[in-house]
Amino acid sequence: MAALLFKLSILCTIVLKIILSVEAQLSPDHYSYSCPQALQIVEDVVVEAIQNETRLGASLLRLHFHDCFVNGCDASVLLDDNATFTGEKTAFPNNHSLRGFHVVDVMKAELEKACPNVVSCADILAIAARDAVYHLGGPTWEVQLGRRDSTTANKTAANLFIPAPSSNITILTSNFAAVGLSFHDLVALSGAHTIGFARCTTFKQRIYGDVDINPSFANFLRNKCPRNGSDNVLQGLDVKTPSHFDNLYYKNLLVKKGLLHSDQELYHTDEADPIVRKFSRDVSKFYNSFAKAMIKMGEISPLVGNNGEIRRHCRRSNKKP
Ligand code: HEM
Repeated sequence: MAALLFKLSILCTIVLKIILSVEAQLSPDHYSYSCPQALQIVEDVVVEAIQNETRLGASLLRLHFHDCFVNGCDASVLLDDNATFTGEKTAFPNNHSLRGFHVVDVMKAELEKACPNVVSCADILAIAARDAVYHLGGPTWEVQLGRRDSTTANKTAANLFIPAPSSNITILTSNFAAVGLSFHDLVALSGAHTIGFARCTTFKQRIYGDVDINPSFANFLRNKCPRNGSDNVLQGLDVKTPSHFDNLYYKNLLVKKGLLHSDQELYHTDEADPIVRKFSRDVSKFYNSFAKAMIKMGEISPLVGNNGEIRRHCRRSNKKP
């Protein structure tokens, strides 16, 4: 056991060193000369998408998370399956769940018109996530740029490393630690669930089994999601303001109205309580920590230098299959 823990700590140190060494190679100015209009192009598409359907802001934010947790932020999540290749889109946490791919296609098409072969799909996801949060009323931050795109994807890793809604606090903490994110980052980033929606299937177990749930909230949800009803009915992750990036997510946790089991796991452990309380009391502390954690998440093992490629189309690698 001691030997295993020792090996694990060495592995974590190596992973952290890799993350820290590539950090220096990303920069907010990456496209200042090669494509000065890049950030504006992405932002304009985000604004238009949100005007058409508010939820798309949430969907874009989630895409960046699901990208970064699997082999780093390399746009692997965007690759389509084809006859000879299986990507991450059909992995359990992504299948019939991730959305917003068509919005990324529009961004990429506009960017290719303005500056061909310059802006990576991985950077598009990072910029779009930042702009979506801001335009739904949340904080903003300087986004680090210069990631390149993978030529491949990893479905097995997507199944392993993207946390499930049934996860307990130990699993959540270790999933985040595996990519260099702290417990504080976990609580801050989970605040992303202040926007967007979840299908009944992701919280059915909770409303028919969990004890740590507000009874009237559980009743309300059971009416929406009958035991034998459709698994695809949607419920706001923040029951009160699912289109506004505020701190009600944390206030909901205090009264046991977290929608997912994994959400409520952040608030019944002594260690997590102070952070949830802090964010529920002070929205600026939440915004600050969320922005910092998003920058950290965006720096998970990016491809830089000559690694990877700048895809011409986000759904496929430039290399012929
Ligand atoms: C802590 C572990 C997490 C778990 C277990 C989790 C799980 C989930 C699940 C099950 C859904 C609903 C999916 C569906 O119904 O198809 C969801 C939605 C969402 N998640 Fe998470 N998530 C986690 C962390 C995060 C993080 C770190 C972010 C972003 C920084 C994020 C952003 C979102 C957003 C914005 C939505 C709504 C998407 C939409 O409406 O299209 N989640 N998450």
